[in-house]
Amino acid sequence: MPGVVIVGAQFGDEGKGKMTDYLASRADCVVRYQGGNNAGHTVVIGGHEFRLHIIPSGIFYPGKVCVIGNGMVIDPEALFQELDDLLNQRLKLARLCISDRAHLLLPYHVRLDEAEENCRGAERIGTTKRGIGPAYTDKVARLGFRTSELLEPGWEKRLEAMALEKNHILKQLYGSEGDEPEQVIDWMRRYAERMRPFLTDTSLVLAELAAEGKHILFEGAQGTMLDIDHGTYPFVTSSSPTAGGACIGAGVGPTAVNLVLGVCKAYLTRVGEGNFPTELDGPDGEEIRKRGREFGTTTGRARRCGWIDLVMLRYAARVNGLNGLLITKLDVLDSFPAIRLCNAYTCSGGTIREFPASQRLLQTFKPVYEDLEGWQQDTSGVRRYEDLPAAARRFIERIGEVTGLPVMAISVGPDREQTIMLQELSRQAHK
Ligand code: IMP
Repeated sequence: MPGVVIVGAQFGDEGKGKMTDYLASRADCVVRYQGGNNAGHTVVIGGHEFRLHIIPSGIFYPGKVCVIGNGMVIDPEALFQELDDLLNQRLKLARLCISDRAHLLLPYHVRLDEAEENCRGAERIGTTKRGIGPAYTDKVARLGFRTSELLEPGWEKRLEAMALEKNHILKQLYGSEGDEPEQVIDWMRRYAERMRPFLTDTSLVLAELAAEGKHILFEGAQGTMLDIDHGTYPFVTSSSPTAGGACIGAGVGPTAVNLVLGVCKAYLTRVGEGNFPTELDGPDGEEIRKRGREFGTTTGRARRCGWIDLVMLRYAARVNGLNGLLITKLDVLDSFPAIRLCNAYTCSGGTIREFPASQRLLQTFKPVYEDLEGWQQDTSGVRRYEDLPAAARRFIERIGEVTGLPVMAISVGPDREQTIMLQELSRQAHK
């Protein structure tokens, strides 16, 4: 089955929305397989900016199927707000299906996220405060509330018991207030009716599409370094953005995937807490933030900026089994006289070439940089690789050499057209 997974190869915010949108135009179905409305995918169409948080990026293509997979946690209020925003703009949309096995993100998850973060003090993760961690905690603790429960009578009773229990935790443990159970039930009732027609066994939908030879795109949110297993734990999200997560979160086997693409920026950004060795505190970081408009799509927070880290990218290539890289925001580096790439770290013990498990260790690592000449030319209008300045091509080639991955596309601006294709991605996918 032609299945393509697209993942963030860094800390999220790599510009996956734009690349997914491009690939979605060539797929029949787009599936989100993890996360919730902590994600923020910006898609620019004809100068118009659309921000998606829960709905897959394929939604802009009528005639296609968009799936919210079982691996997601869904805040129904956020979902329908997003859907209504799109409908109000009179856009023609894809067919939306929601997994009957996905978990609902409820008001008490948001309250718990806030309370837990406040309690962590200096140890805080810097979550998006959308309730993601607590919703996944309930899922794994087998206390979750799945969408399919809305199809059965008596869900109100269970929700009432859950809300009461959470209120107890909020009060006794965190000294904060919860919502009255009746309020939570009323809130859920508001969205239950609307949600029911969308609910289905999405694994079956995907299997049927695959049997018809349709092309499926699995859209990762966040990024490899925020993965619960492979990221910079504990400064991670609570799901599995890496490629393996696509199988679990969509209900397909590994044989459903035949191409894995990693998206990375030409530099590095991070929101929230946690170390990253190439972070720039001074004017270079400020310049990247300004030129790259590095402010969170979901929370508006200023992103921390730094040079590209190839140790991290090599690691991402390994844990995702990447077949190729899509590099975004090359144009943001247009103004720099010199560009740095980190391809190792040093510490008292010598040179480190592999990404460590320990955050304490990572904190002590210093980046080893390779310096390249900048190009100091506007690349935003370039559409063919040969037309890029030689120094920019050298930079791209070095990323390819050090990671051992083919660079398949380069983005030089937010619009759909501002893309340099090095290889026809859809052909790669369907070889
Ligand atoms: P949570 O997913 O809200 O629990 O946040 C956990 C960590 O992941 C925090 O550092 C967030 O800033 C980060 N995070 C979550 N979603 C995104 C995203 O879509 N892009 C970038 N960072 C994210």
